[in-house]
This record gives sequence, structure tokens and C-alpha cells, in this order.
Amino acid sequence: MEIGKVTSFYVSGNEVHLQYEKQEVIVTVITPEIVNVFVPCWQKEHLSKAVEGDKTVPCVISTEQQNDTVCIGTDKLSLRIGPNLKLEVTDAGTQVLFHTYEGERVPLKRLSDRSLQQLAAEGHEVSSNDDFHYPVQMVCALDEGDDFYGLGDKSGFLNKKYYEYENWNSDIPQAHTEDFHALYKSVPFLICKKKQGVYGLFFDNTFRSHINLGKEKEEYFFYAAADGNLDMYILGGETMPDVVKNYTTLTGRTPLPQLWTLGYQQSRWGYESASDIREVARQLRENDIPCDVIHFDIDYMQDFKVFTWDDKNYGKPGEFMQELADQGFKTVTIIDPGTKKEDGYFMHDEGMEYGYFATDTNGAVYVNEVWPGESNYPDFGRSKVREWWGDHHRFLVDIGVDGVWNDMNEPASFRGELPQDVVFHDEDRETSHAEMHNVYGHYMSKATYDGLRKHTDKRPFIITRACYAGTQKYSTVWTGDNQSLWAHLQMAIPQLCNLGMSGFAFAGTDIGGFGADATPELMARWIEAACFSPLFRNHAAKGTKPQEPYRFDEQIMGIYRKYVKLRYAFLPYLYDLFYQGEQTGLPIMRPLVLHYEDDPNTHNLNGEFLVGENLLVAPVVEQGAVHKLVYLPEGRWYDLWTGEAYEGAQYILREAQLSVCPMYVKAGSMIPTYEPVSYVGEKPYDRLTLLATPEAASYVHFQDNGTDYAYREGAYNLYAFSKDEKGTLTTVMEHENYPRYDAISLKIIGKE
Ligand code: NOJ
Repeated sequence: MEIGKVTSFYVSGNEVHLQYEKQEVIVTVITPEIVNVFVPCWQKEHLSKAVEGDKTVPCVISTEQQNDTVCIGTDKLSLRIGPNLKLEVTDAGTQVLFHTYEGERVPLKRLSDRSLQQLAAEGHEVSSNDDFHYPVQMVCALDEGDDFYGLGDKSGFLNKKYYEYENWNSDIPQAHTEDFHALYKSVPFLICKKKQGVYGLFFDNTFRSHINLGKEKEEYFFYAAADGNLDMYILGGETMPDVVKNYTTLTGRTPLPQLWTLGYQQSRWGYESASDIREVARQLRENDIPCDVIHFDIDYMQDFKVFTWDDKNYGKPGEFMQELADQGFKTVTIIDPGTKKEDGYFMHDEGMEYGYFATDTNGAVYVNEVWPGESNYPDFGRSKVREWWGDHHRFLVDIGVDGVWNDMNEPASFRGELPQDVVFHDEDRETSHAEMHNVYGHYMSKATYDGLRKHTDKRPFIITRACYAGTQKYSTVWTGDNQSLWAHLQMAIPQLCNLGMSGFAFAGTDIGGFGADATPELMARWIEAACFSPLFRNHAAKGTKPQEPYRFDEQIMGIYRKYVKLRYAFLPYLYDLFYQGEQTGLPIMRPLVLHYEDDPNTHNLNGEFLVGENLLVAPVVEQGAVHKLVYLPEGRWYDLWTGEAYEGAQYILREAQLSVCPMYVKAGSMIPTYEPVSYVGEKPYDRLTLLATPEAASYVHFQDNGTDYAYREGAYNLYAFSKDEKGTLTTVMEHENYPRYDAISLKIIGKE
């Protein structure tokens, strides 16, 4: 950044104010491992939508001027900040983590008008010819061995090195391939794993931004934003989990969900009446496929008007919910932001009367088209609008709806993208679509979360398609409109792992694929790979081949049943991971690199993942394959199905016929399991079985009522289990304020 030299600086609390010739720069030490570099080139305040409240803790900060450079230190990080924002960050030792690139950027593309015309004539899309010369830029040196992770839901592989991405929430119907630059979510958070050391970067700016990780040139990576401030956090830590912990300290953590939300969920855009859904419920129960949730897509509404109910096709509101509840099903209804422009429709009339919709620059309410036809867009950046929207959830709560699915909130629009200058607000400050686009889904989720929080005493269950950094505090996410393609099954693993490392512990893909038709083999392999996906929902598009499990023959349905039941057996383990995640920020599904970062074999491992630290899952994700090349990291690992032990730090070839998803338990583990049920709550969970390897092991297990906030008032049990090599189990109650299990037993893997 061309801002000249530092002319003076002073320290005020945790802040170091540096006066440059052309600009003030503020460095804030948030914690010894989190430092913010703020260049207020747009607005004087941070105006963060991701970071809520003041996260700074008292710290000892040292400062020193060395020629043209100011050195700022904590006991964990040292920053050297010099002319034109030349930056170098080292860890507690002298290992350089991050340093700005001092050469010139070399644009990748510069096409003549003639070339552009030629390309356009044949229908080629040229994404941009401006080489991202956005005004806000940070060009950083790319050192040999650097690898990148995070960035939310971006398509492609686990390691993002050499790819480029846009942060601009986008609903693009084509099949998401690895050269897609943007999907539905914007999470400008990167983890950089270096040959030695690791750090994170979070660019807190909601305008359109570009992240290029060595694609333009191998010597540097860069961040560039179309507008806004440079608001950059450098996150230290000794390990990748430390960096994730620091990032989620800043932006918030996925809260402990209700237990049933971890059960199997069935959905399809195409259930057009109560009798369609009744049939789904009947088939699932009759075919012994455990299921907790049925989703209601847009057809349950009258003319797609939010907070209405089509009683012609779905019966009296509430009656059908009760009928499903009686069979043990929870219900989730979709709510889109686009509000039908129709006089006499209460949402339209209220929104117009209170001035709650976005407008054009002349003050006329902005109109675009979505499912209901001509629609208006609630201005969710204002708390009044969120409160109004949240309060309307009372209708859903009252009729017995258990969760809300927020869709089309990029926001989607059928008549072309909303112009950049459509007027939105950030609270009372008038601003534009350009600033609020990437947080539209974020604020819609917050409105929904606050509404459910106010009108129920349960932990809200929300799923959103669009979001920004920090939305994990309010909502779970799914990866939008994937397709029934092997490439999308393959992508599901790195995509969910990167979402997890970006704070979104509760995420899932549409199992079986949303668009296109799932073959029986793909369906079987998808349920295997998704068995431990935090959000566990099969969903498909209208017009595609139906893909509920009972649509397949007994062989495929049997495989489906096996993995759904396995999921239900492992529910207490998943729930424990969520409980721990409230303290650590660590996700449920983890790439191997997160726990084995010093092992280069894990850095590009796309086809397997860990569930917590104890279970390794290596699904077959290739058509026709009946073997899997599994990488086992250091230590000893036990095959979950055969009990056979393998030494780690090696590849093994596992035979995996269609019904087999290779899974391994780490030596020294104990994993809590329940007897599978048809749905959570069918029977009391009064017995716990610990699945253990022969070695000595210890494990802490959490138990509570699985629904509300009583655990925050102390109504829970924490069991500290330990077992020796002979198989003697000892239990110490670390905390006891909930009815205990009637029985706890131990099962050694591979033994009856
Ligand atoms: C788009 C969503 O991504 C999809 O899941 C949903 O079924 C359709 N909208 C219809 O609501």
C-alpha cells in the first residue's frame, strides 16, 4: 500500500497507532496470539459483521522503533511494520510466519479488446480483465512449502494453493467444479501451513474480494477487495488447531445443537402435499431406516409467500406437524428472503408500511424476481428488520415446526443480480448492496436465530445456504446445489473439512446430490461417505430421479440402513465433539492435516478424514472401485469392521466391496455409542457402550437433556472414563447434575 513512511506512533491500551505520511494504521493486540492490522482507508471504525463484542484481553505489549520500522511484540508474536505497510510477523522464536512481498505483482491476464471479442464470440466466459486491481490489497510472500486451507465452502481440493477465489456469495446452477471462483458463502479466512509453523489470516471486509494463492505468480499470494478497509487479523498458534481456536475466539463458535439435529434428515424439493410427505414417513419407518427430520421445501406455502401455509394441500397448519411428531419426526420448513410484492399480503404490507425493504437510490422499494414472482428484499442489516422477521417465526413455532431452513439468501434473484447501489443499511448507516451482499445470509440467519431463541426455549436449528465469517454462531450450513456426480461426492470431503476449519463445524452436503440422477452405486457410496457428515440430510431437486433410500433395491437400501444405523450408534460421540467444540472451535469432520500437520502425506489428502481424533474414515468415492488406498498416520489403527491392527505412517490397500466404507479407530481410543433407535427420543438413552481398542485409554463424555440450555446452568454429567489394558473400566464423575445411565459397558473392537 502506497502510504509512505511511519512518522510517529503511540501506544494506547492494546492499540499501537502508527501515523504514516498518508494514512493512520492501527495495530491492535487482541490476545498474545491474535493481532489486528487496520488501515481505515474507507471508514474509521471496523464495522465488523463477524466479530461481536470486544475480544481484547489485557496483554503485555512491547514496542520499539528500529530505523524506518516499528517492532510490536507479545510473548507469542512479533510484528515488524515499515514503510508502505511492509510487514513481517514472526512467532515466539524467530521463525518468520508471514511477510509482505516486496516485488511487483505481475498480472496474469491482459487481453486486447480483439481477443476478448473473439473469446466472447465462441461463448467463452472471461471472468475479468482487470487482474483484480482492487484498491485494497495485501500481497504476501509465498514461501516454499506453504499450503493453504480454510476459505469456507470453496470448490475444489483440500489444499487451496495455486487456486484463486472470489468472495461474492453466488448461486450458480452449473456443476461446481474446481475452477469455480465463488459459491454461496464468503469466509475470507485462510490457514497457512508452513514448512515450519502455521498461522491464519482473516480479512474482515464484506465487499467483493479476491484471494489468489499463488496462481498469478508462485512467489506471492494476495488478497484484494473492491472497497472497504484493510482489516486483517494475523492468528498465531503452535498448531493448526490453535489457529482454528483463535479464529473461532474471534468470530464465534458453533453452539451445541439439539441431539435430534444430528439424526438422519430426509428432504426433497418435490413433496407437493401432506400425502406425499406422509408416504415418505411411512416408507422410512416401514423399511427400518432411522430418521429424525422431514423437510418442507417451498411448496408448503401459499404461492411461495413466507410465513403462510397452503392448507389446501397440507391440511390445517399444525395438524400435520402433530401427526408427524406422533411418529417421532421433527419438521423443518424453508423460508426464503424474497417477500412477494402483493397488496394485502401481511408481510408485504408490513414491510412497506415500516420501510423494511431495500430501495433503489431514488427511494423506491427495489423489486426483483424469485419464486413468488415479483418480490422485495428485507433490509436485514437493521436490527428492527431482523426483529420483525424473527418475530414472524412465532407462526412456525406455534404450529410445531422444529427448525428453519434459510435458502436463496445470497440473495438470489431471477432477473439478474441486484445492482451494486441498491440501498441497504448497516444498522442506521445507509449503505449499498456492494457492502451488504456478502452478509445478507448472515443477517437473515441472525434474525431467524434471534426469533427462535425468543419464541422457544430450545436450541435453535437453522440451516442456511449463504453466509459470512461468523455465521456459525447462528446457523448450520449446507453446500447448496451439488449434483449426483462422482466429482461432487469426492469434493464433499475437502469442502466439509475446509468449512469445518473455517468455523462451520455443523455442515453437510445434499446426500446423493441435488441435481442430476443418483445411480444406485453412487447413492450407496454417498451415504457411506456422509455417515459422519455433521449435517446428515438427503435432498434432491424436482425433476430428478427420486433418491429416498427406499427407492432403491434391497441391496442398496440395506447398505443405506447399515450406515444410518451406524450414525445413530455414534450419536453420543458426535454430540461430545460438538460439546468440546464450544470450547475449542474444532470441527467434527477434520482433514488429517489438522492433527498430523508435520506429516507431508496429509497435506493434500482429499479422500479421507477424521471424526474427532479417534476415528478415521476413508470412503470409496470412485465409480466401480472396490478397493481403497488408505493413508494411516503415525500410531496404530484398528479396522472398525475386522478389528485388525495396522501400524500407521503407511498406505494400506483395503478391499471395500460396495457395502464397505473403510473406518479405523486410533489405538488408545474409547468411543461412546448408543443402541441405534428409529429416532432420537424413541427410547430413553439409559445404556452407554464404550467401543475401545485394547490399549489403555481415557475419555470424557458429556450427557444432558439434549434440547435446551439447562446444561449452561449446570444440568449435565461429565464422565471421566479410563480403562487399563486388562479392560477394567473406571468412571469418575467430573460433574454430576443429571440422571446417570443405568449401565455402562465396554466393547473391545474385534472381540465379541
Ligand atoms: C434452491 C436450494 O438450494 C434447494 O435446496 C431448494 O430445494 C430449492 N432452492 C427450492 O427451494
